[in-house]
Amino acid sequence: MNIEAALNLEDIRKLAKRKLPKIAFDFIEGGADDEHGLRRNREAFGCYNLVPRYLVDVSQRDQSVNLLGHTYASPIGIAPTGLAGLFRRDADCMLAQAAVEHNIPYLMSSASNHAIETAARIAPDHVWFQIYCTPQQRINLDLVRRARDANVKTLVVSVDVPVNANRERNRRNGFTRPFKMTPRIALDALTHPGWLLDYLRSGGIPLMQNWAPYAPKGATAQEVADVFGSLTPNPMTTWKTLEQIRSLWSGQLVVKGLLHPDDAKAAVALGVDAIIVSNHGGRQLDAAPSPIDMLPAVLAAVPNTPIMVDSGVRRGSDIVIALCLGARFTFFGRPTLYGAAAAGLKGVAKTIELVRAEIDLVMAQIGCTRLDALHAGYLRRAGAAYPDFANGPQNPGFSP
Ligand code: FNR
Repeated sequence: MNIEAALNLEDIRKLAKRKLPKIAFDFIEGGADDEHGLRRNREAFGCYNLVPRYLVDVSQRDQSVNLLGHTYASPIGIAPTGLAGLFRRDADCMLAQAAVEHNIPYLMSSASNHAIETAARIAPDHVWFQIYCTPQQRINLDLVRRARDANVKTLVVSVDVPVNANRERNRRNGFTRPFKMTPRIALDALTHPGWLLDYLRSGGIPLMQNWAPYAPKGATAQEVADVFGSLTPNPMTTWKTLEQIRSLWSGQLVVKGLLHPDDAKAAVALGVDAIIVSNHGGRQLDAAPSPIDMLPAVLAAVPNTPIMVDSGVRRGSDIVIALCLGARFTFFGRPTLYGAAAAGLKGVAKTIELVRAEIDLVMAQIGCTRLDALHAGYLRRAGAAYPDFANGPQNPGFSP
């Protein structure tokens, strides 16, 4: 199969799996511990049915969404994913370019390989910048300054990595720091020549360009990665740190990785503009609930704040379900990386186009022509009666 023949995101995932050495594919694919969280993220969507309404004129459908002052073409964005350049040379630039072409947001990870300044040049109106707070105030300040100077409008602080998680696939495969080449890894690479050529042509381990300024002049990619690794994760990151970032950053501030409604309340009280409810795609705390399951409680806690969600989004119907539950927007992390690994920019574009088409199809099938008309009345919790009277006033779409 080639990328043109891919019918869905799972097809693209399979293409990426073929293309990438196991050590690289597993790094993207894997979760923490037993990967229960990873599975739970998918199962959470399966707990909902969409209840269609017929005899509605659905000949014109619009999936645009207004979010933080920008009208995006679709309710999907590209979540921050570090080390993307390891899976495809210049993947960060491809993700930024695809975001422009499809008018969706691209959240550049500070752990990316290209610099925020480059992404902001490619996608001036679509790039957001995601940071982790380090213990060095000088570096936090500088990251914020660089985002401001690059004219980035939205800064995202990820808070769900207080410590590195136990990702056993990485440990088994030898994807650890410091990296040590072994015969098994070499064989893995040699049996994936397309990837290997791309890797060698880009000069081996890609540089984490956002962190190069904080390493000694002329530091190698490995040395820069070590600087990043010594500064993050920062287990001393607290609400006080977030407050400092808020006072430094006058643009839109988003917190990514909250799950508890009281944390959402605290973030909003501190002046955060929006929240991404996320469990990091099941890569951090394996026992964490799926964001979809926490969404109603978070929304009840902060009803006037745009809430976005990621982790496990793979189908247009997942996105429609999330929006029916009250999310304003969704993101995916792995799928666009798989797209980049499978076929570069074409693969990222295909990923977005497939999901866009799925959203459109679902909207038509449930009788909804605009996303702001979605509501909980389109949902039935699998196994429950419809309507779920227990939902009461939280179910704005229900009219008896
Ligand atoms: C991530 N994620 C992530 N999140 C973040 O805030 N900063 C980062 O640098 C990264 N890096 C990263 C690398 C890779 C390879 C993956 C797969 C994920 C998490 C990401 O932003 C997002 O929350 C999840 O990927 C969403 O889940 P799905 O869509 O992958 O199921």
